[in-house]
Amino acid sequence: MKNKRIAYGLILLVCAVAAFFLYKAVRKKAIEWYASTHMERQTPFPSSANPDQICLTWSGDPKTSATVQWRTAITTLDGEAQFHEKSDAASSEVVPAVASGLSDRLLVNDPDTRRFTAELAGLKPGTAYSYRVGSPKANVWSAWSEFTTAPAEAVPFSFVYLGDPQLGLDYWGKLVHASFERNPNAAFYLIAGDLVNNGTYRNEWDEFFKAGEGVFDRRPVLPVLGNHDYAKQDTPALYLALFGLPVSGPGDAFREKAYSLRYSNALFVVLDSNLSAKEQAPWLETQLADTSPVWKFVSYHHPAYSSKANRDNPDVRDVWGPLFDKYHVDVALQGHDHAYLRTYPMFAGKRADSAAKGTYYTVTVSGTKYYEQEPHDYAACAFPNISTYQVIDITTNPNRLSYRAFDLEGKMLDEFSIEK
Ligand SMILES: [Fe+2]
Repeated sequence: MKNKRIAYGLILLVCAVAAFFLYKAVRKKAIEWYASTHMERQTPFPSSANPDQICLTWSGDPKTSATVQWRTAITTLDGEAQFHEKSDAASSEVVPAVASGLSDRLLVNDPDTRRFTAELAGLKPGTAYSYRVGSPKANVWSAWSEFTTAPAEAVPFSFVYLGDPQLGLDYWGKLVHASFERNPNAAFYLIAGDLVNNGTYRNEWDEFFKAGEGVFDRRPVLPVLGNHDYAKQDTPALYLALFGLPVSGPGDAFREKAYSLRYSNALFVVLDSNLSAKEQAPWLETQLADTSPVWKFVSYHHPAYSSKANRDNPDVRDVWGPLFDKYHVDVALQGHDHAYLRTYPMFAGKRADSAAKGTYYTVTVSGTKYYEQEPHDYAACAFPNISTYQVIDITTNPNRLSYRAFDLEGKMLDEFSIEK
């Protein structure tokens, strides 16, 4: 009888504890849902008649095109980009922009804005261009800015890779500007997901573009989709509205979410690790099977080799990893774990003898949200609590890849190189 009472008591206790945690989880979800659908917000950077958030991407061939997008107040209806070769102002051309409204009804001080996208096509490879954007009707224009198209031949180049910005976008802006000032030759910025904390809040994107002002109008962004860019929605609607990206990916379900680009002698394959790894695998294989690039980079958000316990992504490692092995991807640029971790060259889940036989996997963070880190036998260099930017330099004679990670002050914290 006494044992029965103890057993009932224990069952009651377990039920009470379970109910408590269930209540806490449901309450948290309800608060999150309410905040995302009812609570009013303010943007610190409302739109105006002056074009801002001017951002370059590539949706076509980087050798012969550039896509520029910008924002104005909703009252501006027309937009165009004017451009010419930097060395030939007489070659001036005009491209009308596609305009669309972008609304965030809970932004009390600026709910509706106008977005413009213009694709500058028919450009010459390896050529510097000047451009400005604005409204011919209102005669309101941005300042002139510059970009350079991708080279036609295999030539040396550099690019910057950043892990999650997400939180602390002020600090992140300083990091981006520091990387730009120290590496003015870096051709583009690859950002490995979680560009903002809540991808459905336009005020956060306003902060993101404000922080990147002066850089992203001169160097294209290659964005990658993180879980926070989806913000628990089926579609990362704002991300897709804000960036014009290649539609070269694995079918409609992955349109502008997974894509590939060639730059000089390197292939860049961007994947969406929020979606099915299996469904992207056949397309990934067609991209990696191309034997013409000297260097192969892949980028996606959720790491194959995690930095923190209980954050394993076995699908990424088990479905994509064998393709990285088979077609010899040089470096996998990842994010999500809010710390720094760079593996040894890995092959089939194990440490390889050399870079010639394996792939380096990196996890980095560029914003100020940090997670603790556990030791891992696959980690060649790992540390928590530091935001970094990474500069990857490619030289052609000899074929050499040099990867270096820096903090805000410019102190180098990691490096490796590969020669072929
Ligand atoms: Fe993430």
